[in-house]
Amino acid sequence: MKTVLLGYMSSGKSSVGKLLAKQMQYDFIDLDHYISENEGMPISEIFNLKGELYFRKKEKEYLEKILRSSTTTNLVLSLGGGTPCYYNNMRLILEQTGINSVYLKVNIETLLQRLWKEKEHRPLIAHYKDKEGLEEFIRKHLFERQFYYLKAQHVIDVSKLSFNQIVENIQLKI
Ligand code: S3P
Repeated sequence: MKTVLLGYMSSGKSSVGKLLAKQMQYDFIDLDHYISENEGMPISEIFNLKGELYFRKKEKEYLEKILRSSTTTNLVLSLGGGTPCYYNNMRLILEQTGINSVYLKVNIETLLQRLWKEKEHRPLIAHYKDKEGLEEFIRKHLFERQFYYLKAQHVIDVSKLSFNQIVENIQLKI
């Protein structure tokens, strides 16, 4: 069985994924990490040197490769924030058999607090100089992206939960 975690930037996909995989004794892949390993540079450098379109193409290629791979059957996969929203990635996730999808939903206030502190290494928001501008961006962006995120089989409001509580919640659902 494969479990795919999705959600906005800083929703905890990577940390929760790692913990969930450990508890279930499954393999763990963080898609961003996988992409940067394979491309030989950090995500922010891929954006800067090759552009977002190149990144989205690679993101799709690696996602397909991982989901179709028969060697990693028991897997927890943490996506990037934008992964479900490009090409037909979300359809691929939903249509492939043996895949659970979980949306880690976080409220705007919490996202803003977290992202304001850690925006520097995130290519889509690093340029925001004031918190109000960033908030406006997150509101619009999340509104557009929720259309895809909410297609996940399971939605968990994780805003007030610890990583351990989120993992427990996921295990009850999948
Ligand atoms: C992105 C989120 C990032 C990374 C890239 C683009 C996005 O992943 O894939 O910077 O479009 O939201 P995280 O959600 O892990 O930060």
